[in-house]
Amino acid sequence: MGEEPYYVTTPIYYVNDVPHIGHAYTTLACDALARFMRLDGRRVMFLTGTDEHGQKVEKAADDLGIGAQELADRNSANFRDLAVTMGYTNDDFIRTTEPRHIDAVQHLWRILIEREEIYLGTYAGWYSVRDEAFFSESELIKGEDGKLLAPTGTGAEVEWVEEPSYFFRLSAWQDRLLEFYDAHPDFIAPDTRRNEVVSFVSGGLQDLSVSRTSFQWGVPVPDNPDHVMYVWLDALTNYLTAVGYPDTNSEAFQTYWPADLHMVGKDILRFHAVYWPAFLLAAGIEPPKRVFAHGWWTNEGEKISKSLGNVIDPLALVEEYGLDQVRYFLLREVPFGNDGDFSRAAMVQRVNGDLANGIGNLAQRTLTLIQRNCDAQVPDPADFTDDDTNLRLDCGPRLLVAMRQEMNQQRFHIALQELMAAVSAADAYITANEPWALKKTDPARMATVLYTLAEAIRTVVILAQPIIPGAAARLLDQLAVPDDARTFAQIKEESALAPGTALPKPEGVFPRLVDNADA
Ligand code: MSP
Repeated sequence: MGEEPYYVTTPIYYVNDVPHIGHAYTTLACDALARFMRLDGRRVMFLTGTDEHGQKVEKAADDLGIGAQELADRNSANFRDLAVTMGYTNDDFIRTTEPRHIDAVQHLWRILIEREEIYLGTYAGWYSVRDEAFFSESELIKGEDGKLLAPTGTGAEVEWVEEPSYFFRLSAWQDRLLEFYDAHPDFIAPDTRRNEVVSFVSGGLQDLSVSRTSFQWGVPVPDNPDHVMYVWLDALTNYLTAVGYPDTNSEAFQTYWPADLHMVGKDILRFHAVYWPAFLLAAGIEPPKRVFAHGWWTNEGEKISKSLGNVIDPLALVEEYGLDQVRYFLLREVPFGNDGDFSRAAMVQRVNGDLANGIGNLAQRTLTLIQRNCDAQVPDPADFTDDDTNLRLDCGPRLLVAMRQEMNQQRFHIALQELMAAVSAADAYITANEPWALKKTDPARMATVLYTLAEAIRTVVILAQPIIPGAAARLLDQLAVPDDARTFAQIKEESALAPGTALPKPEGVFPRLVDNADA
């Protein structure tokens, strides 16, 4: 196959918890990219899954009085259900308790031992179970009651850990990591995050504890099963497992590694942008091409947390507002990379403004005029004016170029602004050309105007598919676009709607939302 490959991954989710809006968001961003790239002719591998080992999961299972594997099975299934509800098109779903993954991590471990990148010692220091992370004393913050907390903003308490442990020689990688960042300016995005990472690494690195002995729930260290591997070394390796590692000659590995993009939340950037490339370089494996750290959602201005009881359930959101509406809102509302606030008012305003009154209304108006005035068939256009041609270019090939550029940089909000600008241009074109007034005076011109609009809608909607797949499919059905004519390759003159094609009766796809809080 000649298509350019594209490998995109989500973090794998801890199974101590049920899925919430934050998890849904990270995977949604990857899904939109995966769909976009497929429609753009690329061969895509989109991976998500669950992170099932570690002290946090073991503790959660103990609290429930069940086995860790049982908890993992139960909660991993919730994440798979979420993928169905949200319309995710992941090509694989990995679980770190699968044999293929355990093989991969143990193989990587052996290589790091052979290369003397890992040595046996004793760890004495602070650990946050909630973050599954080690911290030096100087990084900790004091909580209100004097308790020592991790600096991650999660309010997680740290505990003192003292036990035999293997260490990865992270300290030896400082200069090589800085050189790597320098040589790969796109490796960390957005730029502010890149600067944070560079300054963290420039401050000096300590060797990293990569095994634990005080609990059992993890991948056993080869040849020393008293130790289980540090859950982050285990988890990060999932990105290799899914493309066939340790078989680096496999077709999957050859095609997809290095990954094009690891999408992560800002809280887990250090693991992906510091530890992960160091592990890989140490094992002689090329690091991924890019890590993007997105921001965090709050709920009506408040931090989302179980203890505040304000966790947003993505399933309930979809039930209330509709799947396309939720997908669109999450990716349009907040500049991707920044933190964002979820509010019902913002949701209703955004969906009504852009979807119901924007794309939805444009399509409904145009299709209804065609239904009534053109015998329910794609109209037969006469000569096109420059305005007609320009609208079709703005809603088609030019929009594709602009959106491709933004999606390549993970700027979903700007890609969608471009899409809405095209919709506004089509609205302005209707107003300027008044097709309803042309029926009596100039029916040939009316047909040309309505044809131009139908074509503009066809291409805009093809481009909207990655974000609002359900509504886009229904709109393309209403334009009688065949299923095999919906890719970006069909955004061209040669694939334009055929005059005379019968069209079904138009139906609105975006009902206007009412804010229940006001009602
Ligand atoms: N298991 C690790 C990742 C291992 S990847 C090799 C993990 N899991 S997690 O379930 O805690 O979090 C997964 C993702 O959800 C992270 O990217 C995190 O940023 C994201 N979110 C969790 N809460 C969030 C918000 N409130 N808002 C946006 N995203 C947030 O970390």
